[in-house]
Amino acid sequence: MKTVVIDAKTIAAQIKDEIANEVRLNTEKGMRPPHLAAILVGEDPASKTYVASKEKDSHSVGFTSSVYRYPETMSEKELLGVVDFLNNDPDVDGFIVQLPLPKHINENNVINAINPDKDVDGFHPVNVGKMVLGMPTFLPATPYGIQTLLERTGIETSGKHCVVIGRSNIVGTPMANMLSRNASNANCTVTLCHSRTQNLKELTLQADILVVAIGKRHFVTEDMVKEGAVVVDVGIHRVDDPTNPKGYYITGDVDFEHVAPKCSFITPVPGGVGIMTRVSLLMNTMTAYRRNMEKA
Ligand code: GUN
Repeated sequence: MKTVVIDAKTIAAQIKDEIANEVRLNTEKGMRPPHLAAILVGEDPASKTYVASKEKDSHSVGFTSSVYRYPETMSEKELLGVVDFLNNDPDVDGFIVQLPLPKHINENNVINAINPDKDVDGFHPVNVGKMVLGMPTFLPATPYGIQTLLERTGIETSGKHCVVIGRSNIVGTPMANMLSRNASNANCTVTLCHSRTQNLKELTLQADILVVAIGKRHFVTEDMVKEGAVVVDVGIHRVDDPTNPKGYYITGDVDFEHVAPKCSFITPVPGGVGIMTRVSLLMNTMTAYRRNMEKA
């Protein structure tokens, strides 16, 4: 099988160029740029890295970016106060509260407090409901990125059997929903597999498109994949490696080396879904901004 490694870097760069051009045209007309804000509570290293990337991405396309940083000891009430402030700041088009939050803060209370019109993560129940109903909304970043990647790579989804492994609220569940909808970039027959699924391999072997978001390194092996399948790897694992200048390397939920030769298309890790997830947040912020400019 001639395998195509999906070129997410080029696709993400194209989308960022499109966004940057739109922002430039608007600001040349005297409009303000889009504004994406983030709230970061505590010192979780991964969260700090994610928020720093969001800031960098925002600046790279001409957005205004602001980050509200608070100590681990912040109370839920104080955080809800910041959410309320951003909900009411007319210069902020969208914002995210970086997860996970410290244990003494109830994440659902915080997500529920976000104005759905500014919820560019697409986590608020109103936006999840709109997604399920196929109404225009902010789609969660990772499945939105994957759908965009498939579309821009020219991969036909209509009528295909898509098997999703993992049922998280932010990846597997929305992915299964989005790909089953009656839309030109969807129309799949979807099977959603999870920890209680029996005969997993029997199901994955039927997949024309296999989306793996299980969070286990090299969980998908070559014997689980049909010849010619499209494989999308959502996993990100850091593996210690003293021979690597960074001291580690990054790998995914799929045993790429052995699975790739069987695939028609496969996403690499790193350089695949992760890049698209970052771009999705920019696309959602543009959507919020366009709405605000139309209202103004
Ligand atoms: N933590 C891990 N992924 C995400 C995400 O997409 N959004 C937010 N807010 N927090 C996260």
